[in-house]
Amino acid sequence: MTSLPALVPFAALPALVPFAALASTGRLLGSMSGLVCGAQRRLPAHTAFARSHGTATGHAGIVGGAGLSHVKDAAQAFGANQSSSSPSFATSGVAPHPGMKAPSPPTDDEVEACWRPVYDTAYLEKVKPFHITPERLYQRIGFRAIMAARWTFDKLTGYGPNMTEAKWLQRMIFLETIAGVPGMVAGVLRHLKSLRSMKRDHGWIHTLLQEAENERMHLLTFFELRKPGPLFRASIIVAQGVFWNLYFIGYLVSPRTCHAAVGFLEEEAVKTYTHALQEIDAGRLWKGKVAPPIACEYWGLKPGASMRDLILAVRADEACHAHVNHTLSGLPATAPNPFAYGASQLP
Ligand SMILES: [Fe+2]
Ligand SMILES: [Fe+2]
Repeated sequence: MTSLPALVPFAALPALVPFAALASTGRLLGSMSGLVCGAQRRLPAHTAFARSHGTATGHAGIVGGAGLSHVKDAAQAFGANQSSSSPSFATSGVAPHPGMKAPSPPTDDEVEACWRPVYDTAYLEKVKPFHITPERLYQRIGFRAIMAARWTFDKLTGYGPNMTEAKWLQRMIFLETIAGVPGMVAGVLRHLKSLRSMKRDHGWIHTLLQEAENERMHLLTFFELRKPGPLFRASIIVAQGVFWNLYFIGYLVSPRTCHAAVGFLEEEAVKTYTHALQEIDAGRLWKGKVAPPIACEYWGLKPGASMRDLILAVRADEACHAHVNHTLSGLPATAPNPFAYGASQLP
């Protein structure tokens, strides 16, 4: 629990978020299609990831580091494609900021840090819905909150059997915009706590931000398959304003309850993606459809991979988030993050 005085510096901040969202609504509605994918498309995807990724979240089925050498290759290829009059960041020709020394090409360690979730194929098929029984009070609170939210959302959106592809994508896009929030809020709050307390974070921040990044990649992938209309985008803005603030305040009050809630939320995501896989296997969903190229780049899928391959990878990500958040919820906030890059034994 965080003491009341610790809440004071943040009291005004949550209230600003909806205003920030509203202020940007015009720009969002005008340029959303370019905003979401533009940055990734201007660069080879691996180069973009190379600039945005942090350390790794350990998980049993992830082939850690597999395919990373071609992150380096892509970074170098990107540099090689530039004319000599416009040398690139990747080839040390220009510094990203005036006065900064031009960087060397990425070292193997730096390439190692450009993490993408590449899974063992046999493992992907083994991921199944699972449930941690909520025993402690904070777990029961988190579980009840998620069950109530899911029941309400399912009723409002007509979730059930035989949904159309459009309805599936609508659901996935909306929920992934929400799922990308908790990791970022928690990462930001732990970062701020480290700053104001002048104490180390013990490795949690990167894992949390990485989860947010991973959820954003789910969103960007599904966005390739369906472009939402203005009303849908407006609902996302409202939902983000509400959920960011709720989670922000919740995390200040009880981080372990929030991690437990996310653990149960991710359990529900595994159930939903398993349902989607059953629909695919029954031939009712995405028959013969291939995964978007952005997904093949990110998850290291073979070219021409199917939507089934993609959903298997997304489900494995969600199972990983559930495991990570359930584990973090049971740890003291000052404990070392067992999923930090370089950890030798995973929980
Ligand atoms: Fe997700
Ligand atoms: Fe997730």
